[in-house]
Amino acid sequence: MSHLHLRQVSKRFGAVQAVIDATLQVQAGEFVSLLGPSGSGKTTTLMMIAGFEEPTAGSIELAGRQVEHVPPNQRDIGMVFQNYALFPHLSIAANIAFPLKVRGRPRAETEAAVRGALALVGLEEMATRLPRQLSGGQQQRVALARALGYQPTLLLLDEPLSALDKNLREQMQIELRRIHRQVGITTLYVTHDQAEAMTLSDRIVVFNRGRIEQVGAPLEVYARPATRFAAGFIGDSTILDGTASTAPTELRLPDGTTLHTAQPLHTNATGAASLLIRPEDFHLGEPPAGANALPVQVLSVLNLGPHLLLIGQHAGREIRIRTPVSPAALASEGSTITAWWLPAKSWPIPPA
Ligand SMILES: Nc1ncnc2c1ncn2[C@@H]1O[C@H](COP(=O)(O)OP(=O)(O)O)[C@@H](O)[C@H]1O
Ligand SMILES: [Mg+2]
Repeated sequence: MSHLHLRQVSKRFGAVQAVIDATLQVQAGEFVSLLGPSGSGKTTTLMMIAGFEEPTAGSIELAGRQVEHVPPNQRDIGMVFQNYALFPHLSIAANIAFPLKVRGRPRAETEAAVRGALALVGLEEMATRLPRQLSGGQQQRVALARALGYQPTLLLLDEPLSALDKNLREQMQIELRRIHRQVGITTLYVTHDQAEAMTLSDRIVVFNRGRIEQVGAPLEVYARPATRFAAGFIGDSTILDGTASTAPTELRLPDGTTLHTAQPLHTNATGAASLLIRPEDFHLGEPPAGANALPVQVLSVLNLGPHLLLIGQHAGREIRIRTPVSPAALASEGSTITAWWLPAKSWPIPPA
């Protein structure tokens, strides 16, 4: 039995369908990210799980209990928002103690829980300070300690790091992973940042326009996106559109080039089909027998440290190639090169 189970959950605000038919199972101890662009329904989903919004349809089961109509304070959920929402006039210790007091826990238990939560986030020395005497990163850790202090059964985090600068954000990602490993709490993490979702998660839930488009491990979603949206939103991508030829694994591009894949194409009624190629799967130079190959006009070469990103085009389609730094690749800006890849590295996706 899963720890959290959403069954066909929908939420409508007037004319806006914020969440449509969301079905999701989360196992105890998992770290799962809800990933999607702004407005795709991530926060609304979290709010329905926390109990601040009621679903228009569907059911939510948490630890074996139907909770759609249970008030938030009886769901045993810890939550952290982007803006921390600490009480400004309360000390750090009093902030962390607050949810325990509200729940009427005995004083000795509360004090021990506050000490434990402060130690967990490495802020033992800060107990008597006020929130404004802490940095943004420290305040965010206090918010996390407050959410974990009363040992909830589920932790919900809504873009908790988006107000922090890049270095601090990366530091906090490492911290979050450590804390998750240490505490083992089932965690749902909302982010619009695909790199963050890839780094942190056991599994990723891809949201688009209120719908869940795919659920899978980070590398699975990257290598085998189920939809065109997931293909474009996660990682760098080249998408080639054409028509299926007689063989189910052959795509004909508009300029007549034939490409091969190891999987059957997703073809629509008009015969349109598409392939995704990840930038690191392209190679330059003489293609081996059986490889796909295209002439690519290189428009720009970006130096990304250990490798280069070549952005070019073939018959009007953008081609993005990641290649090791080499004099030939560096000199290719403005010229036409041959890019090749293996059929197994063309992943079929639905046509536009
Ligand atoms: N309280 C609300 N009233 C009306 N519309 C809302 C409300 N909350 C969210 N929405 C709408 O629902 C959609 C999904 O929003 P949200 O869940 O906040 O997306 P995300 O967190 O992915 O950015 C958006 O179109 C948003 O404008
Ligand atoms: Mg949101």
